[in-house]
Amino acid sequence: MYRILKKRELAENVDEFVVEASEIAKKAEPGQFVIVRISKKGERIPLTIAEKDCDAGTITLMVQRVGKTTFHLSCLEEGHVITDVVGPLGKPTHLEKWGHVVCIGGGLGLAPVHHIAQGVKDAENRITTIMGFRREDLVFWEEKMKLISDRLIVTTNDGSYGMKGLVTDALQELIDSGEEINMVITAGPVPMMKAVAELTKKYRIPTVASLNPVMVDGTGMCGACRVTVNGEVKFACVDGPEFDAHKVEFDELINRLNMFKTLEGEALKEFQKKHCGCGKE
Ligand SMILES: Cc1cc2nc3c(=O)[nH]c(=O)nc-3n(C[C@H](O)[C@H](O)[C@H](O)COP(=O)(O)OP(=O)(O)OC[C@H]3O[C@@H](n4cnc5c(N)ncnc54)[C@H](O)[C@@H]3O)c2cc1C
Ligand code: FES
Repeated sequence: MYRILKKRELAENVDEFVVEASEIAKKAEPGQFVIVRISKKGERIPLTIAEKDCDAGTITLMVQRVGKTTFHLSCLEEGHVITDVVGPLGKPTHLEKWGHVVCIGGGLGLAPVHHIAQGVKDAENRITTIMGFRREDLVFWEEKMKLISDRLIVTTNDGSYGMKGLVTDALQELIDSGEEINMVITAGPVPMMKAVAELTKKYRIPTVASLNPVMVDGTGMCGACRVTVNGEVKFACVDGPEFDAHKVEFDELINRLNMFKTLEGEALKEFQKKHCGCGKE
Protein backbone atom coordinates (compact mmCIF):
# COMPACT_ATOMS: atom_id res chain seq x y z
CA MET A 1 0.00 0.00 0.00
CA TYR A 2 1.52 3.25 -1.08
CA ARG A 3 -0.45 5.56 1.21
CA ILE A 4 0.17 9.29 1.17
CA LEU A 5 1.01 10.18 4.77
CA LYS A 6 1.75 13.87 4.24
CA LYS A 7 1.17 16.32 1.44
CA ARG A 8 2.02 20.00 1.22
CA GLU A 9 2.40 22.61 -1.47
CA LEU A 10 6.03 23.73 -1.69
CA ALA A 11 5.56 26.44 -4.30
CA GLU A 12 3.23 27.32 -7.17
CA ASN A 13 2.47 24.04 -8.98
CA VAL A 14 4.89 22.01 -6.85
CA ASP A 15 3.71 19.47 -4.24
CA GLU A 16 5.65 17.34 -1.78
CA PHE A 17 4.32 13.88 -0.91
CA VAL A 18 5.56 11.65 1.92
CA VAL A 19 4.54 8.14 0.87
CA GLU A 20 4.50 4.89 2.83
CA ALA A 21 6.91 2.60 0.95
CA SER A 22 9.11 0.78 3.47
CA GLU A 23 10.70 -1.74 1.06
CA ILE A 24 11.68 1.04 -1.36
CA ALA A 25 13.00 3.23 1.47
CA LYS A 26 15.24 0.37 2.68
CA LYS A 27 16.88 -0.06 -0.73
CA ALA A 28 16.84 3.46 -2.21
CA GLU A 29 20.17 5.11 -2.86
CA PRO A 30 20.99 8.65 -4.03
CA GLY A 31 20.23 9.21 -7.71
CA GLN A 32 17.46 6.61 -7.94
CA PHE A 33 13.83 7.08 -8.88
CA VAL A 34 10.48 5.33 -8.83
CA ILE A 35 7.85 4.84 -11.53
CA VAL A 36 4.42 5.82 -10.31
CA ARG A 37 0.98 4.87 -11.66
CA ILE A 38 -2.04 6.56 -10.14
CA SER A 39 -4.80 4.35 -11.46
CA LYS A 40 -5.04 0.95 -13.15
CA LYS A 41 -5.32 2.51 -16.62
CA GLY A 42 -3.00 5.39 -15.77
CA GLU A 43 0.24 6.44 -17.44
CA ARG A 44 3.50 5.55 -15.69
CA ILE A 45 5.71 8.50 -14.76
CA PRO A 46 9.21 8.61 -13.24
CA LEU A 47 9.77 10.61 -10.04
CA THR A 48 13.00 10.96 -8.09
CA ILE A 49 13.29 9.67 -4.54
CA ALA A 50 14.12 13.07 -3.06
CA GLU A 51 14.46 11.75 0.48
CA LYS A 52 13.93 8.51 2.38
CA ASP A 53 13.32 7.65 6.01
CA CYS A 54 14.05 3.98 6.71
CA ASP A 55 12.75 4.19 10.31
CA ALA A 56 9.43 5.66 9.25
CA GLY A 57 9.34 3.49 6.12
CA THR A 58 8.68 6.47 3.83
CA ILE A 59 9.98 8.12 0.70
CA THR A 60 9.48 11.76 -0.25
CA LEU A 61 8.50 12.74 -3.77
CA MET A 62 8.33 16.25 -5.20
CA VAL A 63 5.97 16.75 -8.09
CA GLN A 64 5.69 19.65 -10.49
CA ARG A 65 2.32 19.88 -12.21
CA VAL A 66 3.11 19.98 -15.93
CA GLY A 67 0.63 17.63 -17.60
CA LYS A 68 -2.17 15.11 -17.18
CA THR A 69 -0.58 12.68 -14.74
CA THR A 70 1.18 15.21 -12.53
CA PHE A 71 -2.06 17.24 -12.28
CA HIS A 72 -3.94 14.04 -11.43
CA LEU A 73 -1.36 13.19 -8.74
CA SER A 74 -1.74 16.65 -7.22
CA CYS A 75 -5.46 15.88 -6.71
CA LEU A 76 -4.58 13.07 -4.28
CA GLU A 77 -4.67 13.97 -0.60
CA GLU A 78 -3.28 12.61 2.68
CA GLY A 79 -4.76 9.14 3.31
CA HIS A 80 -5.20 8.38 -0.41
CA VAL A 81 -3.32 5.46 -1.91
CA ILE A 82 -1.14 5.53 -5.05
CA THR A 83 -1.89 2.42 -7.15
CA ASP A 84 1.71 1.50 -8.02
CA VAL A 85 5.11 2.74 -6.94
CA VAL A 86 7.89 0.68 -8.53
CA GLY A 87 11.49 1.08 -7.50
CA PRO A 88 14.11 1.97 -6.65
CA LEU A 89 15.12 2.19 -10.32
CA GLY A 90 18.18 3.51 -12.13
CA LYS A 91 21.82 3.33 -11.16
CA PRO A 92 22.72 4.92 -7.85
CA THR A 93 25.04 7.94 -7.97
CA HIS A 94 28.72 7.02 -8.16
CA LEU A 95 30.13 8.47 -4.93
CA GLU A 96 33.69 8.96 -3.77
CA LYS A 97 35.78 11.37 -1.75
CA TRP A 98 36.45 14.03 -4.38
CA GLY A 99 37.13 17.04 -2.13
CA HIS A 100 35.03 20.07 -3.02
CA VAL A 101 31.80 19.20 -4.82
CA VAL A 102 29.39 21.78 -6.24
CA CYS A 103 25.79 20.49 -6.41
CA ILE A 104 23.59 22.54 -8.73
CA GLY A 105 19.79 22.20 -8.79
CA GLY A 106 17.34 24.21 -10.84
CA GLY A 107 13.70 24.13 -9.67
CA LEU A 108 12.53 20.50 -9.49
CA GLY A 109 16.14 19.44 -10.01
CA LEU A 110 16.34 19.89 -6.23
CA ALA A 111 14.67 16.46 -5.89
CA PRO A 112 17.68 14.48 -7.18
CA VAL A 113 20.19 17.06 -5.94
CA HIS A 114 18.97 16.77 -2.33
CA HIS A 115 19.39 12.99 -2.13
CA ILE A 116 22.66 13.07 -4.12
CA ALA A 117 24.09 15.82 -1.87
CA GLN A 118 23.34 13.66 1.18
CA GLY A 119 25.41 10.86 -0.40
CA VAL A 120 28.19 13.27 -1.35
CA LYS A 121 28.33 14.50 2.25
CA ASP A 122 28.39 10.94 3.64
CA ALA A 123 31.38 10.32 1.34
CA GLU A 124 33.15 13.10 3.32
CA ASN A 125 33.19 15.82 0.68
CA ARG A 126 32.82 19.56 1.18
CA ILE A 127 29.66 20.75 -0.54
CA THR A 128 28.70 24.04 -2.11
CA THR A 129 25.09 23.94 -3.26
CA ILE A 130 23.73 26.33 -5.84
CA MET A 131 19.90 26.36 -6.04
CA GLY A 132 18.31 28.33 -8.87
CA PHE A 133 14.72 29.53 -9.19
CA ARG A 134 12.89 32.04 -11.37
CA ARG A 135 11.69 34.17 -8.41
CA GLU A 136 11.43 34.26 -4.61
CA ASP A 137 8.00 32.62 -4.19
CA LEU A 138 9.21 29.54 -6.08
CA VAL A 139 12.07 28.83 -3.64
CA PHE A 140 11.69 25.66 -1.55
CA TRP A 141 13.76 23.25 0.57
CA GLU A 142 16.31 25.95 1.39
CA GLU A 143 16.52 24.86 5.05
CA LYS A 144 16.98 21.19 4.09
CA MET A 145 19.79 22.03 1.67
CA LYS A 146 21.43 24.28 4.30
CA LEU A 147 21.66 21.31 6.67
CA ILE A 148 23.61 19.24 4.12
CA SER A 149 25.73 21.96 2.50
CA ASP A 150 28.87 23.66 3.78
CA ARG A 151 27.82 26.68 1.73
CA LEU A 152 24.51 27.45 0.07
CA ILE A 153 23.92 29.95 -2.72
CA VAL A 154 20.37 30.70 -3.87
CA THR A 155 19.91 32.46 -7.20
CA THR A 156 16.75 33.96 -8.67
CA ASN A 157 16.48 35.14 -12.27
CA ASP A 158 14.86 38.43 -11.23
CA GLY A 159 16.95 39.03 -8.08
CA SER A 160 13.86 38.90 -5.80
CA TYR A 161 15.79 36.56 -3.45
CA GLY A 162 19.46 35.66 -3.04
CA MET A 163 21.86 36.41 -5.86
CA LYS A 164 20.38 37.87 -9.05
CA GLY A 165 21.13 35.70 -12.05
CA LEU A 166 21.35 32.12 -13.19
CA VAL A 167 23.03 29.18 -11.49
CA THR A 168 25.80 29.46 -14.07
CA ASP A 169 26.49 33.06 -12.92
CA ALA A 170 27.02 31.78 -9.36
CA LEU A 171 29.21 28.96 -10.65
CA GLN A 172 31.27 31.38 -12.76
CA GLU A 173 31.83 33.55 -9.63
CA LEU A 174 33.02 30.50 -7.69
CA ILE A 175 35.41 29.53 -10.48
CA ASP A 176 36.68 33.13 -10.76
CA SER A 177 37.33 33.21 -7.00
CA GLY A 178 40.05 30.64 -7.63
CA GLU A 179 38.54 28.08 -5.30
CA GLU A 180 39.30 24.53 -6.39
CA ILE A 181 36.25 22.57 -7.57
CA ASN A 182 36.78 18.83 -7.95
CA MET A 183 33.33 17.76 -9.16
CA VAL A 184 30.04 19.33 -10.26
CA ILE A 185 26.73 17.43 -10.08
CA THR A 186 23.68 19.00 -11.68
CA ALA A 187 19.96 18.33 -12.20
CA GLY A 188 17.15 20.50 -13.49
CA PRO A 189 15.81 21.85 -16.78
CA VAL A 190 17.80 20.46 -19.73
CA PRO A 191 18.92 23.91 -21.04
CA MET A 192 20.29 24.66 -17.55
CA MET A 193 22.24 21.37 -17.39
CA LYS A 194 23.55 22.07 -20.91
CA ALA A 195 24.76 25.54 -19.84
CA VAL A 196 26.43 24.12 -16.71
CA ALA A 197 28.18 21.46 -18.81
CA GLU A 198 29.43 24.03 -21.34
CA LEU A 199 30.88 26.16 -18.56
CA THR A 200 32.61 23.37 -16.67
CA LYS A 201 33.98 21.84 -19.87
CA LYS A 202 35.90 25.09 -20.46
CA TYR A 203 37.58 24.70 -17.06
CA ARG A 204 37.89 20.89 -17.27
CA ILE A 205 35.83 20.32 -14.14
CA PRO A 206 34.34 16.79 -14.15
CA THR A 207 30.55 17.10 -14.30
CA VAL A 208 27.66 14.70 -13.92
CA ALA A 209 24.09 15.48 -15.03
CA SER A 210 20.95 13.65 -13.89
CA LEU A 211 18.86 13.40 -17.07
CA ASN A 212 15.07 13.44 -17.28
CA PRO A 213 13.95 12.03 -20.65
CA VAL A 214 10.45 10.69 -21.18
CA MET A 215 10.22 7.19 -19.65
CA VAL A 216 7.61 4.48 -19.99
CA ASP A 217 8.61 1.14 -18.46
CA GLY A 218 11.75 2.25 -16.62
CA THR A 219 13.39 -1.13 -17.13
CA GLY A 220 15.24 -0.81 -20.46
CA MET A 221 12.54 -2.49 -22.58
CA CYS A 222 10.74 0.30 -24.48
CA GLY A 223 13.54 2.62 -25.63
CA ALA A 224 11.55 5.79 -24.79
CA CYS A 225 14.32 7.18 -22.60
CA ARG A 226 17.17 6.85 -25.08
CA VAL A 227 19.85 9.51 -24.98
CA THR A 228 23.13 9.84 -26.82
CA VAL A 229 26.24 9.93 -24.66
CA ASN A 230 29.71 9.98 -26.18
CA GLY A 231 28.16 9.02 -29.53
CA GLU A 232 26.51 5.90 -28.09
CA VAL A 233 22.83 5.25 -27.46
CA LYS A 234 22.09 4.78 -23.77
CA PHE A 235 18.84 4.12 -21.93
CA ALA A 236 18.61 6.59 -19.07
CA CYS A 237 16.43 4.28 -16.96
CA VAL A 238 19.00 1.49 -16.72
CA ASP A 239 22.32 3.07 -17.81
CA GLY A 240 21.59 6.33 -15.93
CA PRO A 241 19.89 8.63 -15.14
CA GLU A 242 23.33 10.18 -14.39
CA PHE A 243 25.91 10.60 -17.15
CA ASP A 244 29.11 12.49 -17.86
CA ALA A 245 27.60 15.87 -18.74
CA HIS A 246 30.43 16.73 -21.14
CA LYS A 247 29.44 13.80 -23.36
CA VAL A 248 25.65 14.17 -23.41
CA GLU A 249 23.90 15.38 -26.58
CA PHE A 250 21.61 17.86 -24.83
CA ASP A 251 20.02 19.30 -28.02
CA GLU A 252 18.77 15.86 -28.99
CA LEU A 253 17.30 15.42 -25.49
CA ILE A 254 15.53 18.80 -25.74
CA ASN A 255 14.05 17.80 -29.13
CA ARG A 256 12.87 14.44 -27.81
CA LEU A 257 11.19 16.10 -24.77
CA ASN A 258 9.29 18.42 -27.14
CA MET A 259 8.17 15.63 -29.52
CA PHE A 260 4.87 14.86 -27.79
CA LYS A 261 3.92 18.43 -26.71
CA THR A 262 0.71 18.61 -28.82
CA LEU A 263 -0.57 15.20 -27.69
CA GLU A 264 0.35 15.96 -24.05
CA GLY A 265 -1.50 19.31 -24.21
CA GLU A 266 -4.61 17.59 -25.58
CA ALA A 267 -4.47 14.89 -22.87
CA LEU A 268 -4.28 17.56 -20.14
CA LYS A 269 -7.25 19.52 -21.61
CA GLU A 270 -9.31 16.33 -21.78
CA PHE A 271 -8.40 15.45 -18.17
CA GLN A 272 -9.31 18.94 -16.90
CA LYS A 273 -12.65 18.89 -18.78
CA LYS A 274 -13.56 15.55 -17.18
CA HIS A 275 -12.25 16.12 -13.69
CA CYS A 276 -12.70 19.89 -13.17
CA GLY A 277 -9.18 19.91 -11.72
CA CYS A 278 -10.17 17.96 -8.60
CA GLY A 279 -9.44 14.41 -9.72
CA LYS A 280 -13.03 13.28 -9.18
CA GLU A 281 -15.35 12.35 -12.06
C1 LIG B 1 14.52 9.92 -13.84
C2 LIG B 1 13.49 11.01 -13.81
C3 LIG B 1 13.16 11.59 -12.60
C4 LIG B 1 12.19 12.59 -12.55
N1 LIG B 1 11.91 13.14 -11.34
C5 LIG B 1 10.94 14.06 -11.24
C6 LIG B 1 10.58 14.60 -9.95
O1 LIG B 1 11.14 14.23 -8.91
N2 LIG B 1 9.57 15.51 -9.91
C7 LIG B 1 8.91 15.91 -11.04
O2 LIG B 1 8.00 16.73 -10.93
N3 LIG B 1 9.24 15.45 -12.25
C8 LIG B 1 10.21 14.52 -12.39
N4 LIG B 1 10.52 14.00 -13.62
C9 LIG B 1 9.75 14.46 -14.78
C10 LIG B 1 8.35 13.81 -14.75
O3 LIG B 1 8.47 12.42 -14.91
C11 LIG B 1 7.48 14.40 -15.88
O4 LIG B 1 7.23 15.75 -15.59
C12 LIG B 1 6.13 13.66 -15.97
O5 LIG B 1 6.35 12.39 -16.54
C13 LIG B 1 5.14 14.45 -16.80
O6 LIG B 1 3.96 13.69 -16.91
P1 LIG B 1 2.56 14.42 -17.19
O7 LIG B 1 1.61 13.39 -17.71
O8 LIG B 1 2.11 15.21 -16.02
O9 LIG B 1 2.91 15.46 -18.32
P2 LIG B 1 3.03 15.19 -19.87
O10 LIG B 1 1.70 15.38 -20.47
O11 LIG B 1 3.73 13.89 -20.11
O12 LIG B 1 4.00 16.37 -20.27
C14 LIG B 1 3.62 17.75 -20.15
C15 LIG B 1 4.83 18.62 -20.43
O13 LIG B 1 5.77 18.43 -19.36
C16 LIG B 1 7.08 18.40 -19.85
N5 LIG B 1 7.69 17.09 -19.57
C17 LIG B 1 7.18 15.86 -19.82
N6 LIG B 1 8.01 14.89 -19.44
C18 LIG B 1 9.09 15.53 -18.93
C19 LIG B 1 10.29 15.09 -18.37
N7 LIG B 1 10.61 13.80 -18.28
N8 LIG B 1 11.16 16.04 -17.93
C20 LIG B 1 10.88 17.35 -18.03
N9 LIG B 1 9.75 17.83 -18.56
C21 LIG B 1 8.87 16.94 -19.00
C22 LIG B 1 7.00 18.65 -21.33
O14 LIG B 1 7.16 20.03 -21.56
C23 LIG B 1 5.61 18.24 -21.69
O15 LIG B 1 5.13 18.87 -22.81
C24 LIG B 1 11.52 13.02 -13.73
C25 LIG B 1 11.85 12.42 -14.95
C26 LIG B 1 12.83 11.44 -14.99
C27 LIG B 1 13.16 10.79 -16.29
S1 FES C 1 11.95 3.88 -20.01
FE1 FES C 1 11.77 2.27 -21.42
S2 FES C 1 13.82 1.83 -21.94
FE2 FES C 1 13.98 3.36 -20.43
